[in-house]
Amino acid sequence: MMEVTFYDREQEIKEVRDILRTKPRLITFIYGPINSGKTEMISHLIEQLPDNYVVFYINLRTKFLATYDDFIESLFEMEMEMETDGAMRKRKETLAELVPSVTKVTGIPITREFIDYVFKDNKPKNAFSYMIKLFEKVRDSGKHTVLVLDELQKIGDVKVNGPLVYELFNFFVDLTKELHLCHVFAITSDSLFIERVYSEAMLEERCKYLLVDDFDYRQTMDLMGGYGFDMHEKEIAWHYVGGKPVSLVRLINEKISEKNIEDVAESMLKLRTGEIRQRIGVLTIVNKKILFEKEEIELKYDNVTKILDKFLDEESYAYDVITPEIVYLVKENILFVDPVNGIIKPQSQLNLLAIRGVMRDA
Ligand SMILES: Nc1ncnc2c1ncn2[C@@H]1O[C@H](COP(=O)(O)OP(=O)(O)OP(=O)(O)O)[C@@H](O)[C@H]1O
Ligand SMILES: [Mg+2]
Repeated sequence: MMEVTFYDREQEIKEVRDILRTKPRLITFIYGPINSGKTEMISHLIEQLPDNYVVFYINLRTKFLATYDDFIESLFEMEMEMETDGAMRKRKETLAELVPSVTKVTGIPITREFIDYVFKDNKPKNAFSYMIKLFEKVRDSGKHTVLVLDELQKIGDVKVNGPLVYELFNFFVDLTKELHLCHVFAITSDSLFIERVYSEAMLEERCKYLLVDDFDYRQTMDLMGGYGFDMHEKEIAWHYVGGKPVSLVRLINEKISEKNIEDVAESMLKLRTGEIRQRIGVLTIVNKKILFEKEEIELKYDNVTKILDKFLDEESYAYDVITPEIVYLVKENILFVDPVNGIIKPQSQLNLLAIRGVMRDA
């Protein structure tokens, strides 16, 4: 079977590599609309890094996070993994024993000597100070440490005394600005989370932002051309799904199965249009409330459609304030807020077309 191979992202990868070449100073937030290829980009880059980079990549997507213990379990490698020969890998006793064996891992290994310490008293500080010890040992061995936390917004609701996310941000500032010990990348597709991060005073001047957006026209044409799309099919792909990698991959696979691209794209649009119509339509039936700045605010159908109306002849617009209606549309994965560029746009071209379809009939 033909598989779609990793495409491009040269510019974004160059930016990350440039960061990795210098001393860690800032936290890098990687953000972008849903399914734009953030995880794919960073995973590809990690695979290509030379062995003098020790990478801890943790994806919180599938983790259940409600308590401190959940958080620790999601961060650290708690279970013993099976070796290829069927033997259980033994937990290393000390850091000196551990460090030479770590390269690119999906959980932070804890040594036997630190396991109680990390778990003790529900104190994130203990976990963080263990990580600092580990990263210092990695540095002493002549290697660079990189910490990547994917789907960071999932930490949002966990509380340990106060919100865990603040403890974590402080820790990230320590690792970068204060200690220059470790490169930190935080990835999220939750644009409301990025918006809060962006206006967070404690992070001011301490982080930078890297947008991983859908592919542009040239990239999309080039990618699709590589899978045998003719000019007409390429234009159809661009018209319906724009440069959204996940949708382009879907169209490529449909073509491989000898489906008609236009029919497939049309049915994708029909589905999304129906979904959006339903999400907006419910507001005329029930009084939906949304939590906004800790207050329950009632959503008004007219205010929601007023926002969507803007997309009848624009692809994006510059915003002043985030309103409860915008929060609703972002939470429904219809709109994407880019606080760095100060704009709001649909999550994808398919969403743009679906919004237009719904608003024309409204
Ligand atoms: N550079 C690329 N080359 C080829 N395919 C890609 C590329 N980037 C993304 N894809 C395809 O799109 C899919 C979604 O990408 P990915 O999971 O990286 O998006 P994401 O931005 O991390 O999504 P989320 O917002 O859900 O976290 C991938 O599974 C892959 O099939
Ligand atoms: Mg992802």
